[in-house]
Amino acid sequence: MDKFLIKGGKALHGTVAISGAKNSALPAMAAALLTSEKVMVRNVPRVRDLVTMSKLLAFMDAKVSVTSIPASDYAIEAPSLNHAEAPYELVKTMRASILTLGPLMARLGVARVSLPGGCAIGARPVDLHLKALEQMGAMVTTSHGYIEARAPKGRLKGAHIVFEKITVTGTENILMAAALADGETVLENAAREPEVTDLIAMLRKMGAQICGDGSSTLRIRGVSELHGTEHTIIPDRIEAGTFLVAGAITGGELTIRNCAPEHLGAVITKLQQAGARIDALDATTLRVRPADKLSAADVTTEEYPGFATDMQAQYMALATQAEGTSGITETIFENRFMHASEMVRMGAHISVDGRKAVVRGPTQLSGTTVQASDLRASAGLVLAGLVASGETLIDRVYHIDRGYEGIVEKLRGVGADITRVHGTGL
Ligand code: UD1
Repeated sequence: MDKFLIKGGKALHGTVAISGAKNSALPAMAAALLTSEKVMVRNVPRVRDLVTMSKLLAFMDAKVSVTSIPASDYAIEAPSLNHAEAPYELVKTMRASILTLGPLMARLGVARVSLPGGCAIGARPVDLHLKALEQMGAMVTTSHGYIEARAPKGRLKGAHIVFEKITVTGTENILMAAALADGETVLENAAREPEVTDLIAMLRKMGAQICGDGSSTLRIRGVSELHGTEHTIIPDRIEAGTFLVAGAITGGELTIRNCAPEHLGAVITKLQQAGARIDALDATTLRVRPADKLSAADVTTEEYPGFATDMQAQYMALATQAEGTSGITETIFENRFMHASEMVRMGAHISVDGRKAVVRGPTQLSGTTVQASDLRASAGLVLAGLVASGETLIDRVYHIDRGYEGIVEKLRGVGADITRVHGTGL
């Protein structure tokens, strides 16, 4: 297994370009299953989850080809789908495989998708996806670790669905399912994440009739078929947020281009509250400059437009360098503080009680060997490593490779001393 070796203490300076959003590219690729025509998805980040999604689509007999070098544009063509199945071998490496359920049900009226199971950050059930499909007329059973769903006469029907809890991929799945259903679907308490809005924009280009984007009530009038399209994925707001913290935490000056500042409102506000100096240079460029002093600020994770749970670990790294006591409350996932104990091993003063962590700073972190437990926890540990004295060795970085394109190269490009140590495969 690969590891990252970081020699901390260097302020980062320079310009970094943000890649396409992983969490937008995943549903966009799955949406290509909704039509027999060619779909071009551009600005796909070169990360492992997207490779897994390509394999999944290919398993279902879609033709997936990369049309640019380096690979960031994909052509997907699914004239016929012979395997309406997402097998365990692929689903176990990527929970977002569940995003094929909605499109398969919409296009074929039948699907067999391995149950994703829990993961390091919580139980992460998919009950709300299944309940909504049942409301749309699907018969859903789960047995032998697989979800099996079937729509009578091969077609879902529109329904009035109220999500008990806001779910991002649940909203995306039902949007895709409803796009080809009979009649109108009203989806209440829908997720408002920019990635949902990006999917709606793409589906609309494919001929879907959807209104309400950006709000929590979506109306989808099913159509009989969708057609091919070209779609460019929005910038990754979590990657951009991670680099904002990287600049702020190291006392450097970073220019972050190809980003969407309008998607980063809560993160920018919180970092500014902590003392970071952030300004927009133009519509797609942000700059972060050294703070006079980083000060503690409490944060609570929330659904968009609130502070993203996917930025919580990175914020915790910053809080270790801020003066005072920062309370960090995690409301989305029940077990998302695995990075805290690793940061404590680096010398941080963090106590965790259920869904609340309290960080006392500032602390001079000291490098040691730490384990990454999930994608965003890995990013938090990389940030901690950038300010720690001595060497930090981060193990299990396959987590970070799932979602950050070229993070080592991008950080090195702005002056970080970070290298990938190739593992032996053991
Ligand atoms: C997506 C993102 C992930 C992000 C998360 C929250 C993708 C590919 N992943 O994950 O990066 O951290 O949103 O912003 O876009 N829940 C249920 N039942 C369900 C579905 C969800 O109880 O059927 C719960 C979850 O356990 C969690 C909460 O709802 O506590 C939100 O989860 P959800 O929004 O569904 O997360 P994902 O879509 O899996």
